[in-house]
Amino acid sequence: MTSMNLLNEISIRYPDAVSFAAGRPAEDFWDLDAVHRHLDRYVEHLRTERGLSAAAARRQILQYGRTKGIIHDLIATHLAVDESIRVPAESIVVTVGCQEAMFLVLRALRRGPEDVLLAVSPTYVGLTGAALLADLPVHPVADGPDGVDLADLRRRLTAARAEGLRPRALYLVPDVANPSGASLPLELRRDLLALAAEEDILILEDNPYCVFAGEERLPSLKALDTARRVVHLGSFAKTALPGARVGYVVADQLVSDGAGGTRLLADLLAMIKSMTTVNTSPIAQAVIGGALLEHGHSLRAANTATAALYRRNLALLLDGLARRFPPSTGITWNTPRGGFFLVLTVPHLRIDDALLERSASRHGVIWTPMSHFYPAPGGTHQLRLSVTQLTPATLERGLDALATLLTDPTP
Ligand SMILES: Cc1ncc(COP(=O)(O)O)c(C=O)c1O
Repeated sequence: MTSMNLLNEISIRYPDAVSFAAGRPAEDFWDLDAVHRHLDRYVEHLRTERGLSAAAARRQILQYGRTKGIIHDLIATHLAVDESIRVPAESIVVTVGCQEAMFLVLRALRRGPEDVLLAVSPTYVGLTGAALLADLPVHPVADGPDGVDLADLRRRLTAARAEGLRPRALYLVPDVANPSGASLPLELRRDLLALAAEEDILILEDNPYCVFAGEERLPSLKALDTARRVVHLGSFAKTALPGARVGYVVADQLVSDGAGGTRLLADLLAMIKSMTTVNTSPIAQAVIGGALLEHGHSLRAANTATAALYRRNLALLLDGLARRFPPSTGITWNTPRGGFFLVLTVPHLRIDDALLERSASRHGVIWTPMSHFYPAPGGTHQLRLSVTQLTPATLERGLDALATLLTDPTP
C-alpha cells in the first residue's frame, strides 16, 4: 500500500515524465456533455419503458435508493449481450466500484479466523487492500505462463487445509490481467472450473478489461460456469467512467439464510452493503445506465475507438521494445492479447522504488515495479508498462528513456 502511495507521489513530483505507470483509462474520448445526455436517456427509459411518473423518476435518481442498485436489469442484459453470461438481475448487486464488490464478497466469505483466500500472484493491489480490511489472509498461487498454475493451486489448497485453514475461494483476473497481462487459454478455464468443483471452492473472477482482451474473444469463467462456482466482479471504470465509481458483483450462489433456509449470496452482500455504503449513488448509476442504453447494452460497441487506441499503443510498444532490446540485452517481455499492461523482465537489474525514483528524476519516465504486486517477495527483476495514457510520440520518447536507464544503469 505504501509503495502505491509512492507511485502517486512520484507522478505528482514529475508531472512531465512519460508515464507507463498509470492504470487509468485513456481520456481521449471523454465528453462532459455525454454525462448529461446519459442521465437524460436513463430518465426517459424510466418514464417510457418502466412507466414511472415524472415525480417517481425524479425520486429514483435523487433519493436514497435500493441497496442492490437500480440498473441491475440493464447490467444483466449487458452481460448477456457482451459476455453471453445469463444470470437473473436479482443476483446482481451494483456497488461503489469493483473495489466495494471485492470487499463485500471477502467480508461475506470471512466467517472465522480459519478462513483464507487464495489469489493468483502477482495480484491486483485493490484485492490485497480489500482482503486486509476484511481480515482475510491471502495465500498466493503461482500464475505460471498461462495465468494460473493448477498444480500450485492444488498444493496451496492441501497445505492450507493441513494447517487447519479453510480456503474459501481463488481470486484471479482471467483476461489480460492486471498486472501481468496474461489471459487463461480456454482449456485452462475449463480445467480450473473442474478443479474448483472438485475442491469445493469458489472462484472470484475479476474482469474489468475483458472488453479490451483482443479480437478473438474467450468466454469468461462465469459464461462457462454451470454450477454457480463463479462470483463475477465487474467495473465500469475502464469501459465507461472511473469517476462514476460504479461496479457490480454477480453472486447467484445460494447460501444459508441463518434460519434453516437459503438465500442468494447477492442478498447477503446487500446486507453487508447496507452497513457500509447503504446504496451506490443513483445519479452515477443513471449515467452508466444511460450509456448502456445508448449503446444497445454493449460496452464493446461503446468502446470501439478506445479499444483501437489501446491496440495501436500495445502494437507500438511491442515494436518499440523489439527495436530497443535485441536478444543480446537479455531483456524480455510478454505479448498480451490486448488490455492495458505488459511485463518487462530485466535479469541484470534490481527493479525497485529507488530505480523508479532515478528513472523519473534523471530520465523522465515512470513505470511500476512488479514487486508492488507480490504479497511475498517477488517480481524483483520485473516492471509493468501500461499503454493507456500515451501518444505515439510520448511512447517513443518514453521508450528511449527506458532504454537508456536499463542498458546504462550508472548509479
Ligand atoms: C483487476 C482490477 N479490478 C478492479 C479494478 C477497478 O475497480 P473500480 O475502479 O471499479 O473500483 C481495477 C482497476 O485498476 C483492476 O485493475
